[in-house]
Amino acid sequence: MHIDIITIHPPLLESPFSHSILKRAATKNLVSVNVIDLRPYGIEPHRKTDDYAFGGGAGMIMMIEPIANCINELKEKRSYDEIIFMTPDGETLTQKTCNHLSTLKNIMVLCGHYKGIDERLREHFITKEISIGDYVLSGGELPAAVMCDAIIRLIPGVLNDETSALSDSFQDNLLSPPVYTRPADYNGWKVPDILLSGHQKKIDEWRHEQALERTKIRRPDLL
Ligand code: ADE
Repeated sequence: MHIDIITIHPPLLESPFSHSILKRAATKNLVSVNVIDLRPYGIEPHRKTDDYAFGGGAGMIMMIEPIANCINELKEKRSYDEIIFMTPDGETLTQKTCNHLSTLKNIMVLCGHYKGIDERLREHFITKEISIGDYVLSGGELPAAVMCDAIIRLIPGVLNDETSALSDSFQDNLLSPPVYTRPADYNGWKVPDILLSGHQKKIDEWRHEQALERTKIRRPDLL
């Protein structure tokens, strides 16, 4: 999979892709992430990328030309399955959407800022608008990193134990059951006996029950 991310703040995206699982995914050539600085596409003499809103109102709007030029240049090199705009008024990101996006070959992600982007960009270039939740962040960079993390870890081969992505919370609309590791007894706080029994079938049943119980209590809307 190849991901191009357009931003006016490339450093905000450096760290998430240079560590841990996302770094390993890139090292194994399972994904390539290219962060594109929008600034060089800005309007001279100051490489401006934003301007006042027609009709007035507080806040600057990201201009059409720099973004259109950047997107068109990228489109000359690749054909994109989706051009995604990160925005609080997009569809809320779910595991289902991540599963789908993880199967695509090329995606482009546009990070917004200020009061938004010129609506014509949304009409003519953007194929999907995604929000990571009902709260407003200062820009689309952190949402883009969150979305890419959720997608990349699903690409086969990225996680060592492939089944571990399948048993994630939400994959079957259930939250994950509680998990434990050594020691089996910490100052009298004991691990449930069943997990030490070696009885795999019973352990699986117990985990399923726990997952159901936890979902009923914490997220009944998922059931
Ligand atoms: N940009 C600002 N807030 C956002 C959010 N919640 N989701 C996606 N992009 C955003």
